[in-house]
Amino acid sequence: MSASQPVPHLIVRRWRVGEEEALWRLKYQTIHSINRADYSAAQCAAWAPDDLDPALWRQRIAGMDPFVVELDGELAGFADLQADGYIDHFFCAATRQGCGVGRALMQHIHALAQSRSMTRLFSQVSLTARPFFEHVGFEVVCEQQLCVRGITLANFSMQKWLQPAGDAAEHQE
Ligand SMILES: CC(C)(COP(=O)(O)OP(=O)(O)OC[C@H]1O[C@@H](n2cnc3c(N)ncnc32)[C@H](O)[C@@H]1OP(=O)(O)O)[C@@H](O)C(=O)NCCC(=O)NCCS
Repeated sequence: MSASQPVPHLIVRRWRVGEEEALWRLKYQTIHSINRADYSAAQCAAWAPDDLDPALWRQRIAGMDPFVVELDGELAGFADLQADGYIDHFFCAATRQGCGVGRALMQHIHALAQSRSMTRLFSQVSLTARPFFEHVGFEVVCEQQLCVRGITLANFSMQKWLQPAGDAAEHQE
């Protein structure tokens, strides 16, 4: 990168109350543009509908308690890690694809998992995100056909086994 192109300032932090609508917009735009490459317009509309109940989404976000990536002060992605190792959401903004946002989210998930002594991460991964998840060490458990608002959507159940922190240290001795 040349001196005239400063390195983007990236931070990962917990979401804040009041950001629910921005997170929905990010997810909506990513599904309707990036995931649209692998899913039909009807499937994208079922997955991210125009008439989603904002109160339900606020509840979902509060329950999920995600973390976000800020790139130069703007929301550029978000994801979460549940107590059992489940990753419910994992989205990078449509305008910030290929900028390292997914890597930052995944590194954060792995750091959290290690600090919580988790042994397994798992998620329901889109056709679009599958190669990225494979790239970071996840394996496909099975392909699934989900019924969302009356429309069938394919995705993959994926998982990654983690080496406990103690084991990694032992193997270095
Ligand atoms: C998949 C997704 C998260 C990747 O995020 P991103 O910010 O573009 O990825 P990054 O720029 O951080 O790339 C990180 C690494 O993954 C690799 N990568 C990114 N996309 C990839 C792909 N489609 N296939 C293989 N590798 C990929 C990059 O080459 C990079 O590798 P490196 O760390 O070895 O250099 C993003 O494209 C996305 O938001 N997709 C739609 C989200 C989605 O479908 N979510 C549904 C639930 S899973």
